[in-house]
Amino acid sequence: MSDPPAHRLPDAVPPRDGLAVDAHGLVKHFTTRKQVTKAVDGVDLQIPTGSVFGLLGPNGAGKTTVVRMLATLLRPDAGTARVLGHDVVNDADAVRSAVGLTGQYASVDEDLTGTENLLMLARLYGFRGASARHRVEGLLDAFSLSDAGARQVKTYSGGMRRRIDLAASLVLAPRVLFLDEPTTGLDPRSRNQVWDIVRVLVADGATVLLTTQYLEEADQLADRIAVIDHGKVIAEGTSTELKQSVGQGAVSMRLADASQRPAAASVVEKVIGSEPALATDPYALSARVPEDGADAVARLLPALGEAGIAVPEFTLGQPSLDEVFLTITGKPLPAEDDAEARPVDAQEVS
Ligand SMILES: Nc1ncnc2c1ncn2[C@@H]1O[C@H](COP(=O)(O)OP(=O)(O)OP(=O)(O)O)[C@@H](O)[C@H]1O
Ligand SMILES: [Mg+2]
Repeated sequence: MSDPPAHRLPDAVPPRDGLAVDAHGLVKHFTTRKQVTKAVDGVDLQIPTGSVFGLLGPNGAGKTTVVRMLATLLRPDAGTARVLGHDVVNDADAVRSAVGLTGQYASVDEDLTGTENLLMLARLYGFRGASARHRVEGLLDAFSLSDAGARQVKTYSGGMRRRIDLAASLVLAPRVLFLDEPTTGLDPRSRNQVWDIVRVLVADGATVLLTTQYLEEADQLADRIAVIDHGKVIAEGTSTELKQSVGQGAVSMRLADASQRPAAASVVEKVIGSEPALATDPYALSARVPEDGADAVARLLPALGEAGIAVPEFTLGQPSLDEVFLTITGKPLPAEDDAEARPVDAQEVS
């Protein structure tokens, strides 16, 4: 979107260590009648002020539970966390006044209109009369919802719904914003709009913790990424660092003649020393490049040529976060379609 949200954040006073979020050893169990689930199992997170941090993991990994503890909605069973220097248990009010949260199971009232929802929040936060209206109009405008403001939220599309949720979390410009799967289920255009909003907020000095199942989202937005699985952080770093951790990347090629694929595969294996993966596309194959494989890659095309194999498409790419996840956990990240078929959380009884 072209227009940034029509507001500025209050001057942020970063904590002395420069960390907006500093969590150590967070643990959370849920006890239901049938079983005890260790949803979060010793999570450490250090998020520098003014950065975007991506928490990437599959369904049930513990992402929402981490966010809810940091946002003071759940009390950790063990461990400590500070948000802008305030302890989430002992200083929960101070944390709440500094953070905004848009949940996966979000909070606006379906029966109210978009405008009514935002006005209610604005008044709750102490905006009065014309200043409340002004604030709300600015947000509706920034999120391209001015025309829909007078409609009940239950009539909104998924993308509009996500935008009103985001707008609601920004009525009081937060210095730290927790976004729990902000774009799950959105079409690419709405997803890009949300990404743009996040970029504007960060340019304004906010710190964002974003949970996602989308590799591309973490790649696009996050300065650092933690991969979480079964309640544990299993890898952490920049997107580039994570990708480098699985080797140099991969070569992918498409052949002119599908019948030459077995011959091509054996040339690839001989030259770069790793077994090629055969894609469902009968013309395509790819192979992981080992750490010291740059020279071998340079020899690959000539070797294929000598074997009489025509290769019209040849690319050398960094590994995707998908491959990172596969390498670390031994299983692929869930496909994007699966992300919407999420189970509804059990009622909390702890
Ligand atoms: N209120 C609850 N009561 C019981 N179990 C829960 C509750 N909330 C979460 N869990 C369980 O804790 C684990 C982690 O759940 P969490 O919602 O944090 O995962 P997530 O990474 O956010 O997953 P998703 O991508 O599906 O949103 C799961 O096994 C989940 O079923
Ligand atoms: Mg979740």
